[in-house]
Amino acid sequence: MVAVNALIRDRMASKHAPRIPEVTAHLVEAGGKRLRPMLTLAAAKLCGYSGADHLKLAATVEFIHTATLLHDDVVDESGKRRGRPTANLLWDNKSSVLVGDYLFSRSFQLMVETGSLRVLDILANASATIAEGEVLQMTSASDLRTDEDVYLQVVRGKTAALFSAATEVGGVIAGVSEDAVQALFEYGDALGIAFQIADDLLDYQGDSKVTGKNVGDDFRERKLTLPVIKAVAQATNEERAFWTRTIERGKQEDGDLDQALALMAKYQTLQATRKDALAWSAKAQAAMEKLPEHPLREILSDLADYVVARLK
Ligand code: IPE
Ligand code: IPE
Ligand code: MG
Ligand code: MG
Repeated sequence: MVAVNALIRDRMASKHAPRIPEVTAHLVEAGGKRLRPMLTLAAAKLCGYSGADHLKLAATVEFIHTATLLHDDVVDESGKRRGRPTANLLWDNKSSVLVGDYLFSRSFQLMVETGSLRVLDILANASATIAEGEVLQMTSASDLRTDEDVYLQVVRGKTAALFSAATEVGGVIAGVSEDAVQALFEYGDALGIAFQIADDLLDYQGDSKVTGKNVGDDFRERKLTLPVIKAVAQATNEERAFWTRTIERGKQEDGDLDQALALMAKYQTLQATRKDALAWSAKAQAAMEKLPEHPLREILSDLADYVVARLK
């Protein structure tokens, strides 16, 4: 990871446009968990890889991730990320969109350096799928008909696609069997879904000082995440009127977030959502069992527990 971070720092620079290093340094120096690049390194090592291309691929996935965060904070009108004001707030939307494009393009330059068309195929597909997920989420926001199937489709796209690509490419560069590559894909897919469900829980239950993001953003953004979808599905007529006003019509008043939390408590939807996250985490662990025994296999299995238990 030290080598990956050095590569990230090196490639996020730009000699020609000073705004780029300003914005990228602001976001990258703030940290971030670096979960996706770790997945690529771990998958490659677990598969016995001994070359150096895994470092480039790890930096590639973190660049794709960082580019999507810049764009996502514009789309979500978010004000806080990694404990700092977002780039869209400190600079403006234009800077976030364009620097996001720059990072995205840098990620493609990096992956091309591996010379593997298969790897390019996987990461190009993942990038398109992430954008599809974000667009589907945008068009289903504030629509009370959004059900658990649509939610899963959104989450698979916007989040799990990069997790599964991160693990899959690790196996591909190591040249392991198709069965092993498939198991790595399944692990990343289930892990990413568990991760995003947990993230949606943190949006209601997290401590802003720990998550580094604002609590209640999803409700204000009228996003139908799992805890709300489950509450809407069981709503009485009066409760439905509340959801229609706040989510569908966006007429929110002081105290509405507390009322939403009270309805989620009434139907225990936060607990039910956590149960779903744990089921996906177990699925990720089952996929790991298909891979050969290795100390990293146990670590990746533990990681599936962590993504649901995490507080940030
Ligand atoms: C945030 O991802 C975006 C989501 C998919 C929820 P992370 O929580 O991995 O973000 P950083 O990189 O650690 O800040
Ligand atoms: C993040 O989705 C997914 C991508 C960046 C593609 P969210 O909007 O749910 O994540 P946060 O809460 O802003 O990190
Ligand atoms: Mg967001
Ligand atoms: Mg978003």
